[in-house]
Amino acid sequence: MDFIIVDNYEEMSKKASDIFVEKVNQKPDAVLGLATGSTPERFYELLIDAYKQGDVSFEHAISFNLDEYVGISLDNSQSYHHYMNEKLFNHINLPAAQANLPLGETEDLQVACDNYEAKIKDAGGVDLQLLGIGLNGHIGFNEPGTPFEQETHVVDLAPSTREANARFFDSIDEVPTKAITMGIKTIMQSEQIVLLISGEKKADALYQLAEGPITEDFPASILREHPNVIIIADKAAASKINK
Ligand code: PGA
Repeated sequence: MDFIIVDNYEEMSKKASDIFVEKVNQKPDAVLGLATGSTPERFYELLIDAYKQGDVSFEHAISFNLDEYVGISLDNSQSYHHYMNEKLFNHINLPAAQANLPLGETEDLQVACDNYEAKIKDAGGVDLQLLGIGLNGHIGFNEPGTPFEQETHVVDLAPSTREANARFFDSIDEVPTKAITMGIKTIMQSEQIVLLISGEKKADALYQLAEGPITEDFPASILREHPNVIIIADKAAASKINK
């Protein structure tokens, strides 16, 4: 794992957008893995800026998001479909048919998972995957205890994850209890991974990721076995590690 430690959230976001812009310029039909949450919000703004300035075109790129809630409609303002449209897709030239998210609003969830996994494989796999990390070490919605060998699957969200995400909903009762997520195995098959981590409250998580044991109890720890991972951390998040 390579570490890039920067001063603040803005620099973290800029480093990450530079890496994605460079990838798409090198390989216009790159397969990008995308993430939601608070952490990548500025990253997406910077990608939009780069597109508007003519520094990059997403016309031939393909994207796959990590996860989506189960049980809320796609146009619900808290769905990840909605997040991605608002924060990125409505503002760049990635054709809608090339932007993929798991379908959490469907009759047969297992079929949705299998189709998603197959679509990633048909696209040739993810070239560059963006990740955030939860306080409990989750990546995507792979909560502690998820087998490392799992592909795209349905998960029960951990109580701590529902609490952390309740800030986006009117009350915790409205936070979905399930989601579809790429599995750890799916994520580990990406050619390159960029993980963003910012803020003092994530310092323990980065310590465990960098220096703790590799264990299913802290899902992100498996990234230490991936050959091409860049961790971009701000100083606050990196305050407990020796880098
Ligand atoms: P956050 O979420 O960016 O909103 O902190 C990250 C995650 O839970 O994976």
